[in-house]
Parts: sequence; structure tokens; C-alpha cells
Amino acid sequence: MGGESKKQLIGEINQLRQQKNAIILAHYYQPDEIQDIADFVGDSLQLAQQAANTDAEVIVFCGVHFMAESASILSPEKIVLLPEPEAGCPMADMINAEELIEEKKKYPGVKVVCYVNSSAEVKAESDICCTSSNAEKVVASLEGQDILFVPDGNLGRYVAAKTNRKIIPWPGFCPTHHRVSKEDVLQSRKLHPDAKVLVHPECREEVWQEADYVGSTSGIIKYAENSSAKKFIIGTECGILHQLQKRCPDKEFHLIAKHMLCPNMKKNSLQKVRDCLLTLSPRITVTEEVREKAIAALEKMLTV
Ligand code: 13P
Ligand code: SF4
Repeated sequence: MGGESKKQLIGEINQLRQQKNAIILAHYYQPDEIQDIADFVGDSLQLAQQAANTDAEVIVFCGVHFMAESASILSPEKIVLLPEPEAGCPMADMINAEELIEEKKKYPGVKVVCYVNSSAEVKAESDICCTSSNAEKVVASLEGQDILFVPDGNLGRYVAAKTNRKIIPWPGFCPTHHRVSKEDVLQSRKLHPDAKVLVHPECREEVWQEADYVGSTSGIIKYAENSSAKKFIIGTECGILHQLQKRCPDKEFHLIAKHMLCPNMKKNSLQKVRDCLLTLSPRITVTEEVREKAIAALEKMLTV
């Protein structure tokens, strides 16, 4: 940490956040020490809601690029900082606006539901956004029409199964969740026969078919908190264990597989948070032309 102690860095962050009227938002996949200093820790939907409603002048977004970009679209008058500018989301990069425009031409009249894990340009070409915690509600709100669902094919197929709607899924995926196999579920169940299996819908169908519960990061936390079970197998990114252990100290959590880590989420550090508050950079902005179109899809989601 460049010679500075954790305590020193936290002291500086606390001072700077007050001086600059900043709020620190962190996703559940962020490193533990980032979650501990955040003003708010949440899932993608909760973070977007916080970003839209905060009175702070500066938003430090401890997450990945598309999350900070959504905050900037929703609150253009605010300074939105991403402490590590290289923290992207490989799934969000699996579709661009040109590809989406071409795909839409194949299905005249189709409605486009776009997972928030996408660029502002893709959101601008979509009818409505969704996150993993409201995808079913969002799809149900679009009466009758066929739906093009981008970029997460696994989430698209999951929502299709839950809502019985015709959904054309784009073949994108999250490398961290897509790697989990049915074999991982079966192996985990063998090791912990009395555990409940809770997985994220970014996992493949063969995985969610075997689970006791499928939901977003906040859904998984809520399920574990409210369940009478004592042991859980967790099928999402390892950062969530910090909140699970904090909130349920008497319960036991096991990751579904060894590789449940999002390298981009782990690029952040206390030092980077301190530095971005000090310099008010790197800032995430969106051109007005793209923002005007993208905000409609995001705001529509927030009203569902
Ligand atoms: P949620 O927080 O909405 O469950 O999303 C998980 C995710 O992959 C964010 O990148
Ligand atoms: Fe993207 Fe997957 Fe990382 Fe979420 S966990 S940010 S979907 S790569």
C-alpha cells in the first residue's frame, strides 16, 4: 500500500469524502476492505437507485465501468469516479451498438431488454434495461411482444423459462459464472449434503436447474438471512461471502467452485479510492447524444 497503513488510508478517505461531499457506492463483489468503507453496498439495481437519488456531489463507484456509466447517465450533474478505469465487464463487451442495430433488423417490432451489464451505446438502442433482480418483472411489463435479450444469454434463458415468454437471447455470458458446471453442483452437494444451493442467474441452465434458489446477489443474501438452513453452497462471485458472513455469523457458506472470482471487480483498492477522491479522477462521462437515448431505458427500468 505504498507505505501507508490501512488505518491511514481509511482516515484520509473519510476526510476526503466529507470535504468533497462524496458518497462511496460498492458492489457485493468488491474486495472486503472496500465494502467496509462504503456508504452503501448493494447489487446492481440498488446501486443504480442510490446513484439516481443521492444528494452527494461526487459518486465514487466501486464496481465496474458499466455501473459507473449508468450512474453518470442517471445523474449527469454529478462527478462520477471509477477508482480503477480499467475495471470493465467482459460480458458487457460482448455486444456493441452496431451489432444490436443489425440484430434488431432481423426481428421487426421486437422489444429489446438490455441487462445493465452493457455499454451506454447499447442501452441507447434498447427499450428497457433490467438487472438480475428485476428481469422477470421487466419482461412481464412488456405485454405481448417478442423480446430480444442482450447481452447475457444465460439470464435471457432463465427469464424465458420463468415468464414463459418468447425471448431471443444474445450469446453473451459472464466468464466467472459461465464456468460453473452441473458437475460442480453435484460435487458440492456430495460434500455438503445438508446445504442449500443458491446460484446467480448468470450461471448456465444446467446449473440453475439443479439449484434450490436462483437470484441476484441481494436475493441470495436475503435468502440466506431468512432461511432456517445453516449451510449454503454459493454460486456467485466470492466477494459476496463477506456480506454473508457478516450478516449470518452462525451460518456456513461454501463457494460452488474454486474459480468464483471476477478479476475486474478485484482491481480496486483503498489506495485507488483515496487517490480518486484526492484528484477527482478518473471521471466517467457519457456524451449527451448517447445519454439522452440511454436514460430512457434506465429510467423505464426504475419505474417497473
Ligand atoms: P447483481 O448485483 O445485479 O446480482 O449482478 C451481478 C453482476 O454480475 C454484476 O456485475
Ligand atoms: Fe461482468 Fe461477470 Fe464480473 Fe459481473 S462478475 S462484472 S458480469 S465479468
